[in-house]
Amino acid sequence: MKILMVCLGNICRSPLAEGIMQHKAKQAGLAWMVDSAGTGSWHTGEPPHRLSQKVAKARGVDISCQKARQFRPADMLEFDAVFFMDEDNLLDAKRMAGNMWIDAKASLLLDELYPGESRSVPDPYYGGEPDYHEVYDMIAAACDAFITKQVTKGNRL
Ligand code: 4NP
Repeated sequence: MKILMVCLGNICRSPLAEGIMQHKAKQAGLAWMVDSAGTGSWHTGEPPHRLSQKVAKARGVDISCQKARQFRPADMLEFDAVFFMDEDNLLDAKRMAGNMWIDAKASLLLDELYPGESRSVPDPYYGGEPDYHEVYDMIAAACDAFITKQVTKGNRL
């Protein structure tokens, strides 16, 4: 399975989501490929925010080698599931993708935990270290729920 995590800048939330999902999939024995992107291009080529790196490292997840990139329409073809951190990210990507958009592949990450509640992973960009820990925990719980669901369905590839 190929999974894409999308936020606005691809430096705070989606790099964490990429690292956490990749780490948890590997732990579960799943050879999944996980990537991340931002709907904006301001941070293209940059590593994740230092607090995303620090908080991930404290939990045993190394995201230091990631480089930010912008979401591209072809991502909708390449990936099997595209998870968005908030509703704005989803709507922006939908507009960018145009007729490449595949609705069945797109969803809010927190829908894995709270189906139908349209909950967002809050942007920690203007926050402090505790906000990054909170974001980490939300993403980790959603990734656990997704992996459990896929394994239960037998979708181990
Ligand atoms: P992210 O956070 O979407 O979680 O990566 C942000 C990072 C940068 C900006 C906004 C949000 N920015 O405006 O530069």
